[in-house]
Amino acid sequence: MKKRPVILDCDPGHDDAIALMLALSSKELDVRLITVSAGNSTIERTTLNALRIVSFLDKQVEVAAGARKPLRRVVIPDVETHGESGLDGPVLPEPKFSASSRNALDAQADVLKRSESKVTIIPTGPLTNIALLLSVYPELKDKIDRIVLMGGACFGGNWLPNAEFNIMIDPEAADIVFRSGVPVTMCGLDVTLKAQIFPAEFDIFRRMPNRTGPLVAELLDFFHKSTTPPFMAAPGHEEGAHMHDVCAVAWVLAPELFVSRHLNVQIETVSELTLGCTVVDYNNVFKLQPNADVCFDIDRKGFLDLLTSGISSLP
Ligand code: BDR
Ligand code: CA
Repeated sequence: MKKRPVILDCDPGHDDAIALMLALSSKELDVRLITVSAGNSTIERTTLNALRIVSFLDKQVEVAAGARKPLRRVVIPDVETHGESGLDGPVLPEPKFSASSRNALDAQADVLKRSESKVTIIPTGPLTNIALLLSVYPELKDKIDRIVLMGGACFGGNWLPNAEFNIMIDPEAADIVFRSGVPVTMCGLDVTLKAQIFPAEFDIFRRMPNRTGPLVAELLDFFHKSTTPPFMAAPGHEEGAHMHDVCAVAWVLAPELFVSRHLNVQIETVSELTLGCTVVDYNNVFKLQPNADVCFDIDRKGFLDLLTSGISSLP
């Protein structure tokens, strides 16, 4: 079977780390490059975290650091969710190799130019690096099969009342991506809040006989504590760890697990109150051309099975 070439663009981040693991575990994906964005933490920390994960898995993949900051704004590290390091919780060994001498833009362009078939790009952080790629190398759009991203929401938000973190951090970049004409799949909060792993299920990973399973359990422990408000721990309100970024990789591997609708999405880049809102025209009010497949639902059990089988196949 021919493997599907992919570029991962991430800002690890606990859920980014698990998304990386799922992608690197797959026999169907050919991970040609990992690029890193500033988001959950500074570019230095997210790059170090990506290197740590790839080294831990004993994989040989080029890791290239991207832009230091969003196109027009500043980085706001999410220390509350991901800790000072961007990946607090487990103690990870130092990386066995360094970041690429090429920057994310050059490395992405090179991978696209050289690829004999179209490449899928999976961004799980702010879209700065992807917007730069599309702007500097518009002729390479034809080499992109699809952009499958974690970001946005049709209903609600998590950073502003109706804006999600990845889009809000760099709304101008998101605007470029959604206007680009490249097919987009949007795994936003509508679906990622349903892609939960409940505390009772963390032990599935903890008990795995490999070393990656217990690492995933430790990542889940930290992420769950840092993202779950106390009232949600009450009986009847049990809330698991939300596997936001893992959804984007899972969609590429098993789109049949998801329910989506082909809709028009625009990005708010001006208003302070709704900055970074993904305006999803759910009822086709604007009568504009759809530009994204927006995911709304997921087969949670199927998703968990996909993840457990991927993680158990790693070292
Ligand atoms: C997104 O923000 C980050 O905290 C996560 O890594 C994910 O990409 C969820 O809003
Ligand atoms: Ca992320």
